[in-house]
Amino acid sequence: MSFEWPVTDKNFLADESRRLSSITIDTGTTKPSIKVLDQLLLPGQKKYLEIKGVESAADLIKKMQVRGAPLIASVAVFGLCMESFQNAGANFTRDFMNNAILQLISTRPTAVNLRNVMNRLLKETAGLDGIPLIEAVRGFSFKELIDEARDNRQLCWNGVQTISSVPRKNPDGYTIMTICNTGSLATTSWGTALGVISGLHDQKMLRRVICLETRPYNQGSRLTATELSHQGIDFRLICDSMAAYSITEFQVDAIIVGADRVVANGDTANKVGTFNLAIVAKYFNIPFFVALPYDTFDFDTEDGNSIIIEQRKDDEMRYFNGSLICEPRTPVFNPAFDVTKADLISGYITEKGFHTTLGLKLLHGDEMMRRRA
Ligand code: MRU
Repeated sequence: MSFEWPVTDKNFLADESRRLSSITIDTGTTKPSIKVLDQLLLPGQKKYLEIKGVESAADLIKKMQVRGAPLIASVAVFGLCMESFQNAGANFTRDFMNNAILQLISTRPTAVNLRNVMNRLLKETAGLDGIPLIEAVRGFSFKELIDEARDNRQLCWNGVQTISSVPRKNPDGYTIMTICNTGSLATTSWGTALGVISGLHDQKMLRRVICLETRPYNQGSRLTATELSHQGIDFRLICDSMAAYSITEFQVDAIIVGADRVVANGDTANKVGTFNLAIVAKYFNIPFFVALPYDTFDFDTEDGNSIIIEQRKDDEMRYFNGSLICEPRTPVFNPAFDVTKADLISGYITEKGFHTTLGLKLLHGDEMMRRRA
């Protein structure tokens, strides 16, 4: 089943200055300048880095100076856009673009948004080359940004409506647990799971957030905690291993997470630790929601067994904040993501509404029909 709600409050998340921005855009007179916040330096330093072209975009994504499935896709699109300004676009041919897209898609294999946006770009620019191709790429990049801002606000609103149906344990608002960073630092707008949390705050329906630090990369402590402080939201940072204990201690009403890829049967790849949370939610009988833009669906993959899980470097685990925390050659296992089975998920919140797993199957059917038409 799926439900949709149009945004009825025109002030809902309207004040963009309240969020930490992952990207700055200066349209310039002859050439735009697009900069992204270096997330490796947070929370200590706020430094914006220029996206100069394809190489620089691929590098920013690989080094995880930018991360989060939707933002990765946007940075890749702007990598192409800015490349089209190099040497007045002399080298920006169709062949060049096709190769660049392959290079960008290979940067991080689990998040599917990048592949989806590139497929859309290829479809919209089919048959074009030279100046018409360049103009189409530039137009596409800026339109994507505008569309994302609109769709993201709708997603956050849908999330607020969804959470409203959950019985709350405290009259003064909801207590929500979340993992990783899914906010304005993971998108070009308010975010997915954390965007919904900002929406609840905006609607004065939020009591507190329980934020997992998200080892080993600490997106929770470095990024989500920074965003929550920035917005003046009450929260507690916990170690990942404290999740089960904290659910009763803080009277958590619901868990909400983002996604890097949701496949046709609803299985969901997201930051490693998400699967644990879904199991814990089932034990405590609290809802477990996934919030995602429509671009995070991968209807071409039937179930979670076929999702490629990115393995990160061993040293990311062996070191914490530059300090070695185990023997230097300790063998480690460091997957960036895990897959949560669809039957543990209470529902999916997108800009199109709220979908149960059954609703997702109907969406899948619609998508296949649309592709055949
Ligand atoms: O490795 P990261 O930091 O890119 O992982 C990010 C996540 O797992 C997020 O939950 C996901 O991309 C959704 S972001 C809106």
